[in-house]
Amino acid sequence: MNKLLYDIHNCCVVELPRIHNPAGNITIVQNGQHQLFGIKRVYYLYDVPGGSERGGHAHRSLYQLVIAASGSFDVILDDARNKKIVNLNRPYFGLLIVPGIWREIVNFSSGAICLVLASEKYNADDYIRDYCVFKETKNLYVDRS
Ligand code: TYD
Repeated sequence: MNKLLYDIHNCCVVELPRIHNPAGNITIVQNGQHQLFGIKRVYYLYDVPGGSERGGHAHRSLYQLVIAASGSFDVILDDARNKKIVNLNRPYFGLLIVPGIWREIVNFSSGAICLVLASEKYNADDYIRDYCVFKETKNLYVDRS
């Protein structure tokens, strides 16, 4: 299946393993122990000023797992036909975002940390940053399928 054919229903929240400890919990994401994708890059957003919005793009082939490592935020997922909003507010839940999905991240709580595990190293050519181009690209593939 062409990755640009994915829709928002292919994005899902996964519960990550937790090791409880009265002195503080641990959550682990390890290649080979989940069926999501191989992790090649990790980055995180922090010091996000109140009212800021991040994202505002889609990826052609990148898979990502987005985790609210601290605090909370909303992720708006859009496949050019349907939208859904996912609130992330626990460090043991990850939102799988497949390729071909426009995402915006909004409503960051104070001190929120958005941790992202990604399937590929950074590649500027993998981004679609223009919403009109995104819609046209999606419609092209959906109409052909
Ligand atoms: P971008 O992905 O647009 O951020 P967001 O979606 O969170 O708003 O990236 C912002 C800038 O950082 C952009 O100039 C590209 C750069 N960047 C890298 O150089 N490497 C990376 O791994 C990431 C995620 C971004």
